[in-house]
Amino acid sequence: MSYAELAAAARGNIGPFCKACPVCDGRACAGVMPGPGDKGVGHVAEKNWRAWQSVSVNMDTLHEFFSADTRTTVLGRELSLPVMIGPVGDVQRHYGEKYDTVSYNRCVLTAAAGEGTLAWTGDGLDGSIMTKACGLIDELGGAGVPTVKPWDEVTLGHKLEEALAARPAAVAMDIDAAGLPFLRGQQPPAGAKSAAQIADVATRCHEGGVPFVLKGVMTPAAALRAAEAGVDAIVVSNHGGRVLDGTPATAAALPAIVDAVGERVEVLVDGGIRSGLDVFRALALGARACLVCRPFVVAAFGGGEDGVRAYLAQLRAELADAMEMCGSATVVDVTRDLLWG
Ligand SMILES: Cc1cc2nc3c(=O)[nH]c(=O)nc-3n(C[C@H](O)[C@H](O)[C@H](O)COP(=O)(O)O)c2cc1C
Repeated sequence: MSYAELAAAARGNIGPFCKACPVCDGRACAGVMPGPGDKGVGHVAEKNWRAWQSVSVNMDTLHEFFSADTRTTVLGRELSLPVMIGPVGDVQRHYGEKYDTVSYNRCVLTAAAGEGTLAWTGDGLDGSIMTKACGLIDELGGAGVPTVKPWDEVTLGHKLEEALAARPAAVAMDIDAAGLPFLRGQQPPAGAKSAAQIADVATRCHEGGVPFVLKGVMTPAAALRAAEAGVDAIVVSNHGGRVLDGTPATAAALPAIVDAVGERVEVLVDGGIRSGLDVFRALALGARACLVCRPFVVAAFGGGEDGVRAYLAQLRAELADAMEMCGSATVVDVTRDLLWG
């Protein structure tokens, strides 16, 4: 099934907020929160998507015939394609009855592992969500990335303990989550963290033998502070526009961040990446791999685990096509000179 077919199948069972559009471009749900939209006037999700469309690629088929190899390594783990499934918390509230966060996590974790990649799981005020996600990741031999919120020290301590016990591929923190309207003034409290506090979290993860990823970095200065704090990877992300209106598109922020940190940390990116061609664009702008989030919810509602696997396979095939049409046999060959202008 193609993504458009999965979206058509999802319509009717996905609840009132998500319109399961053929292309998840942030327009139909602009500003819709609760729901899958974004904060304030609601332009950032669409801005993310548009920015990838404005990146043109250099077609060049004057090369030896090859079948592109989409495999890559992220944080020491081989993935069959440079795409992971981004975390979604509170699935039922934002998308409807068919899945709660636990059953959604089970669906995407299993599908991603089956396709040779990873799903990330979200976190929320209900502590049992993280507990169950970590249990599932443990069952899958660590194939998953629990993403903890920047809680107060005591809560964070418990969550890290749970996450590390699952021996996951990495532990992540969405450092930008305090901007979520649902987290404001709640218990436990969540908020910004200093570089020293982040260094502490990184050390705890490293003592547990697990890499630590900071998600929600949007400036070269913050990326450098993260690198100095000892994080292993960052995700250039504006949380799909859900935490602050008026941020730049992630595609616009990415190149300067890559240039600033060089090889010191692995740079991942998310926000509006919808096709294998978008993945190619992200790699060419310097990302090591991408996260794709909202469309996987639609794929799950439209086709369950098979739907999620089908969309991953579609992204892999589209990426391979772009690589073959631009003369890059492997993902490390996808470099900035393959972009036009
Ligand atoms: C309904 C919803 C819930 C989300 N929950 C989380 C979460 O719990 N943790 C997190 O790090 N990001 C969360 N995100 C952000 C996504 O992981 C991702 O950063 C963002 O949606 C941009 O990617 P996309 O444009 O591919 O959706 C959520 C996004 C949506 C739409």
